[in-house]
Amino acid sequence: MTDMEALRERLGGEKPKKAFVRSFGCQLNVSDGEKIKGLLKSAGYSFAESESDADLIILNTCAVRENAEDRVFGIVGSMKHLKDSNPGLIIGISGCMTAQKHIAEKIRKSYPQVDFVLGTSALNSLPGLLLDCMNGSKFAADTNEYTGFAEGTEQVRESSFKASVPIMFGCNNFCTYCIVPYVRGRERSRRSEDIINEVRQLAAGGYKEIMLLGQNVNSYGNDSADEISFPELLRRINAIEGDFIIRFMSSHPKDATRELLDVILGCEKVAKHLHLPVQSGSDRILAEMNRRYTVKKYLETVDYLRSRDKDFSLTTDIIVGFPNESDEDFEATVSLMKRVKYDNIYSFIYSKRTGTKAAEIDDRISDDVKSSRMRRLLEIQREIAAEHYQRFVGRRMRVLVEEPCKKRSGWLTGKSSEFIIAEFEGEPSLIGSFVEIEVIKAMNWAVEGKIIS
Ligand code: 5AD
Ligand code: SF4
Repeated sequence: MTDMEALRERLGGEKPKKAFVRSFGCQLNVSDGEKIKGLLKSAGYSFAESESDADLIILNTCAVRENAEDRVFGIVGSMKHLKDSNPGLIIGISGCMTAQKHIAEKIRKSYPQVDFVLGTSALNSLPGLLLDCMNGSKFAADTNEYTGFAEGTEQVRESSFKASVPIMFGCNNFCTYCIVPYVRGRERSRRSEDIINEVRQLAAGGYKEIMLLGQNVNSYGNDSADEISFPELLRRINAIEGDFIIRFMSSHPKDATRELLDVILGCEKVAKHLHLPVQSGSDRILAEMNRRYTVKKYLETVDYLRSRDKDFSLTTDIIVGFPNESDEDFEATVSLMKRVKYDNIYSFIYSKRTGTKAAEIDDRISDDVKSSRMRRLLEIQREIAAEHYQRFVGRRMRVLVEEPCKKRSGWLTGKSSEFIIAEFEGEPSLIGSFVEIEVIKAMNWAVEGKIIS
């Protein structure tokens, strides 16, 4: 009997159990959370609305920045009372935090309320770990060597019209600030056939947005001599029947080849938007980060896209306060932002990650300086977006309607192909479908429009 069968049998004999899974961090981790839910559903669990009425709680964690880890420790700490009032409660921690030895050790020593830890590529061990816990094991763990991944695991998807599809796991780049290669292991691509079949099923099931995910999607296939390249994968997914939009994340600027850019520009289902994390506008810092491109090279990619489509949308990630980032380095980032005119940026204050190369650098920049740089960056981006969004005013935009607008009742929000947030009046029944709007006004976080069809 497999562990899954044994767990099913065990749960079948008891009153129905409820699970609560909470994911932190990036979309790949959210996707893992959906797989964890899929496994739990197959085992016979239903899902609780909150931690307080759950028999099983899994925190699916992120390790990219320290504040994400601190939040999880805070939450686990506060769960002690849940365990006191419900001794049968099982608490598990999965995701990237578990793959750091010092963190796994801290959980084991200081948080006895935690029953098990589940590594990032050990998802299929979950039924076995749960059985161990039910059989009285004090601390069950599988934090393996991040080599495999769970193919064929059913997912409980959060949305009925937007789906993420991981295409690869791990990262080979070793950017000096980043913990990912240590917690997710080396790049492993899924078989293109499996990916294409999955997208075909999703499209047939009415999904309107397919988000292809990987730490570095444009090196897809490089780990296998028989596999197709990322541009070819995009071409084949573009050819799948159905009305849906294709997005992908994240791309590394060093691998943004001309072929890839041409495929993005030429495939009608592929969004006219590229998320291209630049991290810094200073060549000195880029070298220290081991990013393997220069600002000049990055701008060649931007200029090529804009020469073919002058309104092409770009978003980016920026790290503020990398060790010993000078005023001059920071100003170089500001100039790059003004030159590129991003539609949105995701900016982060550098967070020291034990085990990475950058963690060994003796940093002389104060926290105050870093915070004030961050504030300035956000201010500048607001000005850039407000001005740059003007290009859409008076034009039509096809938008996937996502949810009711939080600020205005009777209004909806959605996203355009360019990944621009749009707000407009409309019926909630439109959620999950495409509408055409005319853009009336540009704001600094979104555009406002009215539905024309
Ligand atoms: N500190 C701050 N930001 C980081 N990122 C990755 N590692 C760190 C770190 N140590 C950011 C990068 C990356 C995004 C997903 O998270 O900008 O692109
Ligand atoms: Fe981290 Fe760099 Fe890999 Fe992105 S590409 S996951 S920043 S090491």
